[in-house]
Amino acid sequence: MEEVIGYLQNNQEKYVEELKEFLSIPSISTSKENKNDINNAASFVERKLKEAGMNRVEIIQTEGHPLVYGEWLGAPGKPTVLIYGHYDVQPVDPINLWSNPPFEPVVKNGKIWARGATDDKGQMFVHIKSVEAFFKIMGSLPVNVKFIIEGEEEIGSESLEKFISQNQSMLKCDAVLISDTALYDKGIPTLTYGLRGLCYMEIEVTGPKRDLHSGSFGGAVANPANVLAKIISKLQDKNNKITIPHFYEDVVKLTKKEKEDFKALKFSERGFAKELGVAELQGEKGYTTLERIWVRPTLDCNGIIGGFTGEGAKTVIPSKATAKISMRLVPNQDPQKITKQFEKYVKSLAPASVKLKIKAIHGAYPVLFPQDNPATLSAAAAMQKAFGKKTIFMREGGSIPIVTTFSKKLKAPCVLMGIGLNSENLHSPNEHFDLNHFKLGMLSSAYFLNNYSL
Ligand code: BES
Ligand code: MN
Ligand code: MN
Repeated sequence: MEEVIGYLQNNQEKYVEELKEFLSIPSISTSKENKNDINNAASFVERKLKEAGMNRVEIIQTEGHPLVYGEWLGAPGKPTVLIYGHYDVQPVDPINLWSNPPFEPVVKNGKIWARGATDDKGQMFVHIKSVEAFFKIMGSLPVNVKFIIEGEEEIGSESLEKFISQNQSMLKCDAVLISDTALYDKGIPTLTYGLRGLCYMEIEVTGPKRDLHSGSFGGAVANPANVLAKIISKLQDKNNKITIPHFYEDVVKLTKKEKEDFKALKFSERGFAKELGVAELQGEKGYTTLERIWVRPTLDCNGIIGGFTGEGAKTVIPSKATAKISMRLVPNQDPQKITKQFEKYVKSLAPASVKLKIKAIHGAYPVLFPQDNPATLSAAAAMQKAFGKKTIFMREGGSIPIVTTFSKKLKAPCVLMGIGLNSENLHSPNEHFDLNHFKLGMLSSAYFLNNYSL
């Protein structure tokens, strides 16, 4: 084992160079123009899995973006670990706020800067390298390993979802290992045992059949932008509680133990506000910030489109206005049920003077895992060994839609061994990834595979 760890430590520079190559591929899943890059990223992963020593490495075409699979089943009697990650990345806009071009990675201040650095190319790469080290040093792995790497995480994982339903035996495993979450803080080994779900909606309000002069017509017809703003403002009350009827019905209450565990993390609300550049924090009345992010559902407008948005002024009543609304859900809320409640309530808020269209864009179920299964315990010990500190457990506000499918269909516990930081600008300009965590992630991965075989 020492030798495997030594090998990983000695090859850091080479791995950073390889990661740079991966990060140079603009594999933006939502953009049709990047279809070639998506294919290139899949091929990159395929090549790296082969180089690492995995068997049966293949690109699996889907109706959407390709999946990459690889396996090594040479440890009969030992458990099987399924390693999941995603090679797709978010769009880069607003591009003018990047200090270096998003797909020309640079290393600066011990971090690597590029779109996808922390979400999720840098994180998923550590497992390919830990496996490679075992093959190079021992010629085998301590457990059986399967990789499934997808290219649609950022757009809802539809193809993988289908693939899992149709290929359950191929993906059969005892545990799923995922690095696509965050550490609680720099250098703190962390396992995440809960993720919020998601319900993403679009509201389109249409008023007059064309844009109108706001002088000649203003006051005589409903302005869709005004109507939309009123609707959005009614979705939360003055205590920031969501007003949709029955919305909180299935919400599992925070346990006393969790409340105490969160308190013990000594989260600094002031430091958090400062880091975000806000004068003060705000959220649902009666809850702390960690509770608001981890265990309470929320509703946010992600964008509003409509009317004149160019420079200067144009006097106009827009014919249409659209809003994108996301709701983050917690156990046991069901995105499909919430979609229906949302539709019904928003309809009731719209005046008869406008036409309303409501669309469900995508969703994800929330998840909550027990912390005492063998895989999670092995992972906690592995991270502790790599980081030299006790592993802490936390929940997370973000979503990974496919995690529910893994746990429901494959009936395997998921180990969320994230090594990113929420301050690493994922989904924003200047995304980066701490290279020390990159190294510690590889060591954690290697220790995990070893611990879990014992
Ligand atoms: N890796 C993130 C999820 C995440 C974010 C985990 C922050 C931990 C901290 C993932 O790639 C992501 O962005 N998920 C989306 C899902 C959506 C597009 C269906 C999310 O949470 O918005
Ligand atoms: Mn991710
Ligand atoms: Mn993401």
